[in-house]
Amino acid sequence: MKELIKQLTQIPGPSGYESAIRETIREIIKPYVRETRVDAMGNLIAQVGTKAPGGMRVMVAAHMDEIGLIVSHIEKKGLVRFSNLGGVLPRYLAGGRVVFLNGTRGVINSDRHDEVSKIQPISQFFIDIGAISEKDCPVKIGDLAVFDREFLDLGKRVSSKALDDRCGCALMIETIQRVKQSPHELLFVFCTQEEVGSRGATTAAYQLDADLGIALDVTPVGDILGVKMQVNLGEGPAIKVRDVGHIADPAVVNWMVRTARELKVPHQLEVLDVGSTDARAMQISRGGMPSGALSIPCRYVHSPSEMIDMDDYAHALTLLTGLLSREIKLEKK
Ligand code: CO
Ligand code: ZN
Repeated sequence: MKELIKQLTQIPGPSGYESAIRETIREIIKPYVRETRVDAMGNLIAQVGTKAPGGMRVMVAAHMDEIGLIVSHIEKKGLVRFSNLGGVLPRYLAGGRVVFLNGTRGVINSDRHDEVSKIQPISQFFIDIGAISEKDCPVKIGDLAVFDREFLDLGKRVSSKALDDRCGCALMIETIQRVKQSPHELLFVFCTQEEVGSRGATTAAYQLDADLGIALDVTPVGDILGVKMQVNLGEGPAIKVRDVGHIADPAVVNWMVRTARELKVPHQLEVLDVGSTDARAMQISRGGMPSGALSIPCRYVHSPSEMIDMDDYAHALTLLTGLLSREIKLEKK
């Protein structure tokens, strides 16, 4: 489990530039699926099983992309200015390191400022790749970088960049490997461009036109950060009730909670005040579909050192495999 998560987190894949992570995932799942295809948005779609009587067409989504930085201009001294792709938080930048898709590495810092306690806007940060001048700079405008941070194994807990949402991708891969008998046609979608507004999931949901949608993603926790929410690390996967962009279908929430109880999987209910997931796109694309989300609690989301608890991950795997292996009964509206 850890090895897979480690492998996936270390591959750079900012929004719109998911080809390396996609090819890695495609190779891993190949022996377990009938076919894979990549659509115009770069989503990787894998179908498992066919719909038996009483079965459903279920779309399961996890996003491959991670937040990134994009070069906006290069100064005479060779300092690289950048803009954000997705929710890059200025407070996590200074002193960090990044790696560009062409392999160039650099350090981040910011313009001089006198009020040390204030967090500067992204426009006042730059990447120093060690260039002496603009001419000598090995990156150009439009090049992309991601956080450069090694996977850290802390035992029960692990830390890395891009656990959002490579742990969701890992969860989906391990589910593909485990689901043996299912009455459903399972449409696993490794989505692109979630961090800039679930763009891959939007077109995937439209084209697949499934009966039900489940997103797998991380969720921030309230256990030490003082966030106004009651999801804690190590207390099981969170079943989404609501976030800023999505009110999970109550029938889906009930089905997930019921199944978790039957399987004796510890779980939590999530009401989130920031962000959303691909479940939003699934719910409102084309004619819509009932959708919900399973979240892995995660500390320090969108920082270079996110953290999850491996027990939460293992429980999420048990729950998701259970949800997809049995007949699905959703209450009528
Ligand atoms: Co995210
Ligand atoms: Zn995410």
